[in-house]
Amino acid sequence: MKIRAYNKDKDEYKLMKMIEGEGEEWTCYSDNSVSDKYRFALENSITYVAYEGDNLCGYSRSINDCGFYIYVCDLLVIQMCRGKKIGQKLMECLSTEYPNQIVYVMSDVDEYYKKKGFKREGSIYEVTKKSP
Ligand SMILES: CC(C)(COP(=O)(O)OP(=O)(O)OC[C@H]1O[C@@H](n2cnc3c(N)ncnc32)[C@H](O)[C@@H]1OP(=O)(O)O)[C@@H](O)C(=O)NCCC(=O)NCCS
Repeated sequence: MKIRAYNKDKDEYKLMKMIEGEGEEWTCYSDNSVSDKYRFALENSITYVAYEGDNLCGYSRSINDCGFYIYVCDLLVIQMCRGKKIGQKLMECLSTEYPNQIVYVMSDVDEYYKKKGFKREGSIYEVTKKSP
């Protein structure tokens, strides 16, 4: 398994195909109305891809807050490649590449990050919506 920085020419097609097959939560990125925006986001974020041979098996997409923090926005490993620490390695390569920055992940799967031993810090509020 190899992890490297995303390359639009080499990875975009495979990555968009990959997320198309991942159900509702991810197809929101590949729907026609937003896929151009997501392609742009992939290219302009810190995006890593994980390959087993020629097969794309996962990726992470993160944003850099001007050198202060890094926020992981998307992390995905396809079903058939799960359980091989690819998710963990995609996360770890951020700390390796950006040793002086704190890396946060916007979690949808708290149990996973807990299991990996990451420290919980704060929570997210949606400021465009008020609680009923
Ligand atoms: C979460 C995800 C990235 C993990 O990738 P992975 O490469 O399989 O993870 P790792 O190999 O590093 O870790 C596997 C371990 O985490 C556990 N794990 C995986 N997903 C989990 C979850 N949602 N909740 C709790 N534990 C989870 C596995 O059971 C396994 O445990 P074990 O080591 O005791 O056997 C992958 O399951 C995935 O893409 N899920 C769908 C997308 C998603 O939820 N992304 C995160 C959004 S913030």
